[in-house]
Amino acid sequence: MNKKIEIADKSYWIGYVDDRKVPFHRLILEKGTTYNSYLLMTERPTIIDTVDIEFGRQYVENLSEIIDLKEIRYVVINHVEPDHAGALPALASKATNAVIVTTELGAQELKQMFKLHNRQFLIIKDGDTLDIGGKTLKFFETPYLHTEETMVTYCVEDKTLYPCDQFSTHIAVKEIFNDLAAEEYLEDFKVYYQLIMHPHRPYVQNMLAKIKNLDIDMIAPSHGYILRSDAAAFIAAYDELSQPKANEKRALILFSTMTGNTTKIAKLIGEALEEKAIEHRIINTKNANIEDIKEAIMDADVIFFGTSTRYADMVGNMEEILKELEAMHIEDKLAVPFGSYGWSGEGIEIIYDYLKRAGMTVVDSSFLIKSTGMNQFQIPIRVKFTPDEEEAARIGQTVAAIGELLLA
Ligand SMILES: Cc1cc2nc3c(=O)[nH]c(=O)nc-3n(C[C@H](O)[C@H](O)[C@H](O)COP(=O)(O)O)c2cc1C
Ligand SMILES: [Fe+2]
Ligand SMILES: [Fe+2]
Repeated sequence: MNKKIEIADKSYWIGYVDDRKVPFHRLILEKGTTYNSYLLMTERPTIIDTVDIEFGRQYVENLSEIIDLKEIRYVVINHVEPDHAGALPALASKATNAVIVTTELGAQELKQMFKLHNRQFLIIKDGDTLDIGGKTLKFFETPYLHTEETMVTYCVEDKTLYPCDQFSTHIAVKEIFNDLAAEEYLEDFKVYYQLIMHPHRPYVQNMLAKIKNLDIDMIAPSHGYILRSDAAAFIAAYDELSQPKANEKRALILFSTMTGNTTKIAKLIGEALEEKAIEHRIINTKNANIEDIKEAIMDADVIFFGTSTRYADMVGNMEEILKELEAMHIEDKLAVPFGSYGWSGEGIEIIYDYLKRAGMTVVDSSFLIKSTGMNQFQIPIRVKFTPDEEEAARIGQTVAAIGELLLA
């Protein structure tokens, strides 16, 4: 380690090259990877993302030879997964004056993961800017690229985009910059996209819309090459690769919750769909307006409708959405009710009634037995309070069966 590489005026790469075969997300990264972290040496020195948790101590030691850690004013965390935020606890314990800059969900997760409850956080909303004294940062929320809390950072003066996992490549690069690349890497760039980003394809299109009007000269991601040559070509590649294809099946997971138990089921459904490579979106009805939700329903081939139960009824604004379905004439779409409950779970059954009344093709146990002969699944998907491991497995199998049906 022990080095910094200038990438723009007063902006430096301070990352770590991991040239082992790295195990990651059930894969082995044959060519290794890098954890790219950046330091912007402005009046208010700012770090953008850190490195893998395994190299935290070395990272902080290296950094302490470059800058007095007490001078660091901001640490921007674009994405909380431990391969990027993992060195944050080590850094934060020395960089005691640093404010952690991240999304609301990012802050929640960091506090829980790393016990950072008494640190100062600056919570970012889409489009916010931050003056770091000599440079200006702009932030855009890019959920699910890679995980839900993710954002990207843009430095106006350097015309540089810091998108963390997005536009990354798993290669233990020695040359750092793509124009110096000794070997062919385009195929690796595309493989990375397919594995990490493509399952969240609609979100890639949302992200591209957000960065469309930025003047981007250089993309500085958190794995692999810094794309300082022909950045536009890599943006165009993401656009092309994420275009919807006519015969692909899409799923929507729509839910209302009081305390997050139903959210856990929604996430399990999402993971099972991802296993089947069925593209999906997850929407908490609280966070979207009804027109956007209707559009998402129209765009999907199967819709999972979830709620918990409160005094024998559904929660949140789920009913408002269900009332719209009949007039939407979506008889050809598959619908699956689900939810968490305490003792009776009426909310889930009320969803079921609404879906039937709207004429949708409701996937219940009876439907599945008749269409596939499989009688081992219970649909609606009902979970008492929070799903345990056994129930999580059961949900995974149920959703896999629904996925097969959809793809058949
Ligand atoms: C005020 C209140 C009323 C509830 N009423 C019911 C009920 O009538 N029937 C039931 O099965 N569960 C009931 N529950 C239990 C919730 O459905 C259960 O805690 C569920 O896991 C919450 O999921 P959520 O976090 O997704 O909202 C009630 C919970 C609360 C807080
Ligand atoms: Fe990630
Ligand atoms: Fe990553």
